[in-house]
Amino acid sequence: MKKKIERILREATEEICPTIDDWGEVKVERSGKNHGDYASNIAFLLAKKEGKNPENIAKEIKKKIKSELVSKVEVKNGFLNVFLSENALKEELSEVLREKDDYGKDICGKTLVVDYSSPNIAKSFGVGHLRSTIIGQSLYNIYEHLGWKGVGINHLGDWGTQYGKLLYQIKKEGKNPEDLSIGELEELYVRFHREAEDSPEMEEEGRKWFAKLERGDKEARKMWEVCRKKSLEEFQKIYDDLEIEIDYVLGESFYEDKLSAVIREAKEKRVAKKSKGALVIDFDDMPSAMILKSDGSTTYFTRDLAAAKYRLEEFSPDKLIYEIGADQTLHMKQLFATVEKMGWAKKAKFVHVPHGMFRLKEGKFSTRRGRTVYLEEVLALAKKKAEEIIKNSATAKNISPKERREIARIVGIGAVKYNDLKRYHKRDVLFDWDRIVTLKGDSGPYLQYTCVRCKSILEKTKRHDVTAEKLDEEERKIVKRIIQFNETVDAAASSYSPNLIAEYAFRLAKEFNYFYDSCPILGNKQRVAITEATLIILTRCLHLLTISVPTKM
Ligand code: ARG
Repeated sequence: MKKKIERILREATEEICPTIDDWGEVKVERSGKNHGDYASNIAFLLAKKEGKNPENIAKEIKKKIKSELVSKVEVKNGFLNVFLSENALKEELSEVLREKDDYGKDICGKTLVVDYSSPNIAKSFGVGHLRSTIIGQSLYNIYEHLGWKGVGINHLGDWGTQYGKLLYQIKKEGKNPEDLSIGELEELYVRFHREAEDSPEMEEEGRKWFAKLERGDKEARKMWEVCRKKSLEEFQKIYDDLEIEIDYVLGESFYEDKLSAVIREAKEKRVAKKSKGALVIDFDDMPSAMILKSDGSTTYFTRDLAAAKYRLEEFSPDKLIYEIGADQTLHMKQLFATVEKMGWAKKAKFVHVPHGMFRLKEGKFSTRRGRTVYLEEVLALAKKKAEEIIKNSATAKNISPKERREIARIVGIGAVKYNDLKRYHKRDVLFDWDRIVTLKGDSGPYLQYTCVRCKSILEKTKRHDVTAEKLDEEERKIVKRIIQFNETVDAAASSYSPNLIAEYAFRLAKEFNYFYDSCPILGNKQRVAITEATLIILTRCLHLLTISVPTKM
């Protein structure tokens, strides 16, 4: 709707000034109560260009607006306040009902690479990586809805000095990786660091083991492979539970044979230079980044550089999103600046979408210090809480225990996902066992429940229609909310903020539930139509938030 209003305003303005071609600063915003539905600054733009008074220009534009979608235009201090007509609301409502799941979908032919989730092997999946997984998948879904071809990449942390340290510790303790669980591998790593505090020479031993791994030493390779395989199996269980499927797993080790070419290119292009036996990249406004250590081993940065090149060549993306913690902001800036220096980027846009960190009351999460919360525990608790609630509900009587468990999974996981997506991604989150699995109020289950409620109304009646009858106050309110869907998705995509969709969906659900309580729906075709449109939009929002809807609740 916002786009339609924008077009109407432009056309009216063009009638007054046909030569206008720079629409750069035209804004159409949703406005508050007494200022109509949308307000625009378009008159200011023209006034500036022609050296005239905005108020007068606005009045002239107003005269030119002739559209069925607009019932009234007011001019206030040079702004144009546009009021939507009954017709506009009904037409858009009909469009939602006609296009259903395709409502608002676009075709743009662009490609988006999203780097997300990316946990490290030989460690359990922590709640920290949960944020990246959920936000990354949500951004993927949002852009896909807008017609982008998505390429999801799990940049698994499966290479680097830390695995040398792990292998060293495994050997030192005389263990066989085949017999070790992920938890035990993690403990070994924690032990390494504890012991290395008193015996600093262990660091050197760890580095040596990584060098062995890089050289392709048989024993080191075999041990590493076992650790990697076990980790992937563990992670898969979590992805299955979360219903998240990432297109490609291209871990850091994948770039091993592509590193020397990148290093060579950086040297040839004089982007990298020698410094104390290492190879570094200098920046004017940031600390240097290292691509080759003095012992000849590569770094996390080198592998990210190779990954960037690979992605550009393999997928020709228009945009690359890195959904990674805010603690890696400097690393990302250095990476993007290096891509620029290398001359690789061309038309592609690189974006770091940083998420805030989970914090415990005691401070930051840290596997090294053995201070972390496991995602598995969080998900298990969420499912358990959801199951308890379902057990005590009226629906419980008509379902089998198996069905109940499946509903509990969808509801519990939905709660965890929504709880994460409803916050502005950049903000830190204080980890709280109660809050992470919220099932009431502004929560995933509340939205799922509203969908189920709509469905059950629609099961009772098939008769819905947009009729000639005038919309009443409550109906208008919901229809107006429904038709804000497209602009909400646009805003979420351009600011990389799924929380805008969460907020929007929660408002719509709340308004619908109020409507349900105060207005009889059955027997009123138009209200049934509004119920159906609410269901379409809410389900779509949940999909964009990676949340599914159970059949019953
Ligand atoms: N494995 C890294 C970590 O856990 C995240 C990787 C993010 N992606 C990237 N291209 N650097 O911190």
